Amino acid sequence: MTSHKSLDLISPMQVMAREAGSLLMEYFHQHVKIEYKGDVDLVTVADRKSEALILEKIRGHFPKHDVMGEEGTRIETGSEYKWYVDPLDGTTNFAHGYPVFCVSLAVERRGQRVAGVIYDPTRDEMFVAELGSGAHLNGQAIHVSAIANLGECLIGTGFPSQKRHKNPNIYFYHQLTLRTHGVRRAGSAALDLCNVASGRYEGFWEFNLNPWDTAAGVLIVEEAGGKVTDFYGGEFQIASRETLASNGLVHAALLHEFQEIFAGHGVEELPSPVGYAKDRKL
Ligand code: IPD
Ligand code: CA
Ligand code: CA
Repeated sequence: MTSHKSLDLISPMQVMAREAGSLLMEYFHQHVKIEYKGDVDLVTVADRKSEALILEKIRGHFPKHDVMGEEGTRIETGSEYKWYVDPLDGTTNFAHGYPVFCVSLAVERRGQRVAGVIYDPTRDEMFVAELGSGAHLNGQAIHVSAIANLGECLIGTGFPSQKRHKNPNIYFYHQLTLRTHGVRRAGSAALDLCNVASGRYEGFWEFNLNPWDTAAGVLIVEEAGGKVTDFYGGEFQIASRETLASNGLVHAALLHEFQEIFAGHGVEELPSPVGYAKDRKL
């Protein structure tokens, strides 16, 4: 049996991510037309061109590997290797000229994540992880943060781009904002996971992410010493619609908050804007 280590995935993955990142930057400096996949689910020519470039490179290096890409690539032959490709994570930011986006590539072998690469072309930051070899940022080892008290944490989250009115995340946003140093909503789930891996955030959660959003970032967090589960502490599954990542030290505290919120216990009421408008003094 060959191990994934005998196959050099990480070098070609980094080359592909860097090339796709350069392509994204060329489009970023132009004014790209926004198209819609759903009400607020945006896509641009850059998403499609980036996926086409990555797919061509994967087929060139690894013609027998399976591939799932956000913009429609589905190659399913039963290969033991499967790629997850998000050619542009942070499309809404990209389309508005807000420089927070990346390319995310992951490879599974027999259902186990073995390699992940996330490249942020705006900062030239290359996050890399291989199963059992740790996580690195531009060649330097990275580790999750050492903060163990929820009250001292900076956390990230995101809101789904589909069926937003049905999602309860605003309550989680409110509660966690009151119990931490703050909650950021930067608009790229893959970079949010890298922020946990590199100790910039202590935690991150999001409802309804897809495999191409999470596959690379979850491995990078785990290899940096962090933890990723569903919202009840169960093992993270690639098809899971729940992602809760942390430095490990505050995971139990975050899970406790989630259970309390789901049970409706101790949930602070959202202040009334009507009351505010009535009482405001200028
Ligand atoms: C989105 C981003 C965003 C998250 C959305 C994702 P996309 O990915 O990761 O942060 O909140 O749920 O769909 O569409 O820009 O690749
Ligand atoms: Ca994405
Ligand atoms: Ca995308």
